[in-house]
Amino acid sequence: MSEIDEPAMEKLRRAAEEAATRAYAPYSKFYVGAALLFDDGSVSTGCNVENASYGLTSCAERNALFRAIGERGPGPKIVAIAVVNRNGAPSAPCGACRQVMSEFVTADAVVNFPGENGPETHPFAEIFPASFHLEPAP
Ligand code: THU
Repeated sequence: MSEIDEPAMEKLRRAAEEAATRAYAPYSKFYVGAALLFDDGSVSTGCNVENASYGLTSCAERNALFRAIGERGPGPKIVAIAVVNRNGAPSAPCGACRQVMSEFVTADAVVNFPGENGPETHPFAEIFPASFHLEPAP
């Protein structure tokens, strides 16, 4: 499991909380923020962005990942992900986001999210043990 102590995780959650203030969620009113911590100490964030068509909504976790890759490419190693919401509700990353994470996040990276009894941290492999993957084409 990645080495990240509770103060560092708390700081990452704060970054996710800040991102959640920018969530665009007029339909669900569920405001989510996600923050990625890279091994060089840098952080990328994202919030959920909804759409009137509902199905085109994009989650905070995927938006954080896609933004980071758009800005820095897929190389930098992610060591931790924090997910928060402003609704005080448990919210583990959805299955679609876990599949997208699996493309860029190693098994030992840790994911922190609001559980039934407060924030909980799990190695990525524990929350998504069997991803779909393809060998990249030569
Ligand atoms: N949402 C996220 O941003 N992340 C998740 O892991 C689950 C759900 C968003 C999508 C939608 O805007 C709102 O929460 C309610 O589903």
